[in-house]
Amino acid sequence: MRDDAPAGPVAADPAGLRALAVATLDGNWEHDHTVPSRTLYPHQWSWDSAFIAIGWAHVRPARAWRELASLFRAQWADGRVPHIVFNPSLRVGAYFPGPEFWASALAEGAPAAATSGLIQPPVHALAAWLAYRRDRSEAARAALARLYPRLVAQQRYLATCRDVGGGDLACIVHPWESGLDNSPAWDAPMAAVRADAAVMRAYRRHDTVHADAAHRPTDLDYARYVAIVASYRALRYRDDDLADRHPFLVECPLLNAAMGGAEQALARIAAVVGADPGPHRDRAAAITEALVRRLYDPTTGLFHPRDLRTGRLVPARTALGLMPLGLPDLPARTAASVIAEACSARFGLAPRMERPLPSHDRTAPDFEPLRYWRGPSWLNLAWLLHRGLRAHGRPDLAAGLRRSMIGLVARSGCHEYFHPDTGAGLGSPAFGWTAALLLDVLADP
Ligand code: SER
Repeated sequence: MRDDAPAGPVAADPAGLRALAVATLDGNWEHDHTVPSRTLYPHQWSWDSAFIAIGWAHVRPARAWRELASLFRAQWADGRVPHIVFNPSLRVGAYFPGPEFWASALAEGAPAAATSGLIQPPVHALAAWLAYRRDRSEAARAALARLYPRLVAQQRYLATCRDVGGGDLACIVHPWESGLDNSPAWDAPMAAVRADAAVMRAYRRHDTVHADAAHRPTDLDYARYVAIVASYRALRYRDDDLADRHPFLVECPLLNAAMGGAEQALARIAAVVGADPGPHRDRAAAITEALVRRLYDPTTGLFHPRDLRTGRLVPARTALGLMPLGLPDLPARTAASVIAEACSARFGLAPRMERPLPSHDRTAPDFEPLRYWRGPSWLNLAWLLHRGLRAHGRPDLAAGLRRSMIGLVARSGCHEYFHPDTGAGLGSPAFGWTAALLLDVLADP
């Protein structure tokens, strides 16, 4: 969808919105998984599948379990869950960078399926727990029990192989691992990655065929993305030498908040499947403590990524910095300052949440309301913040945020992202997690 001009409302009532969301998910269902978008993202993506499973649990619960099971079938021997699992039946060139670029088969411990070598925020244990809360059938309990050791292995990978900084947090080795590819949070660490936009002449970007180039990362961004993958691929995706040999190493507040949230969810899952919840609770507490110690800046009242190459916090104030609010054990004073920041002119949630949550500080000079993660509003970030506001005693703000999420889809449909002022739909017009998370908020007033 190239048009960002305002359109008329697409659905006015909850039943119509629900029907639209279900039709979007059905349209993206592909045998045993759901594609985020038929055009832009035609394979299986890791954190998309988790959010999508949360939506399926409301309408076709068996698909929630198939979605998670198919993703975890592609888990690597070291526990990493790849951020893309490629569908072998698609033509070469359906997506860039495709399986030939990643060459996962060359890496030790990679699965039979072709995958990327990167990860994404581990929101899967939370998704499995929420799906189980909706579907407590015997089949669901069995699916949960099969997933549990795989979810534990995913956490172990992050806590060991990815604790490059030695501070009990996991680092990302590529901006794609944060899920927020071109967030201004990555500008400073990315500036240190040597690359030339001209490199992209050797490749054919697929995304700019299906979306407006002005709404996507730039060619220079892509040249750096490709260079960082090439570095990791040269290490055969092993993590032992990252500190000495890799150009991008950052501790991300969202990824680590998701890791803490996963331990909270695993404690609940453990109680169902007959495992010990205690170690999960201990790890959850340790992650929250490490996040506050290493990534919280009391002068901004926000969390910031820490660039392990410089040792410094990245100064940009982005929506990433609000995400640790999802941790229920965040100290009350820290939570209060994050909420105050969310309500400030930068993120604009107060007084009545009439404006959608932006992905970047609205008042920053590099705020771009149309460009991917540099300003547009995304439903997954709003959904995560909505959970955090409820966990920290602000149902009033959560209710307003929920209304703004529903309003975006009612106005523009299940778009991938939205203009943070006008609400116009941007990116893919039939996006899986938008539909799935809408179903979740509609079902849970
Ligand atoms: N988000 C990336 C893309 O835009 C892939 O992970 O293709």
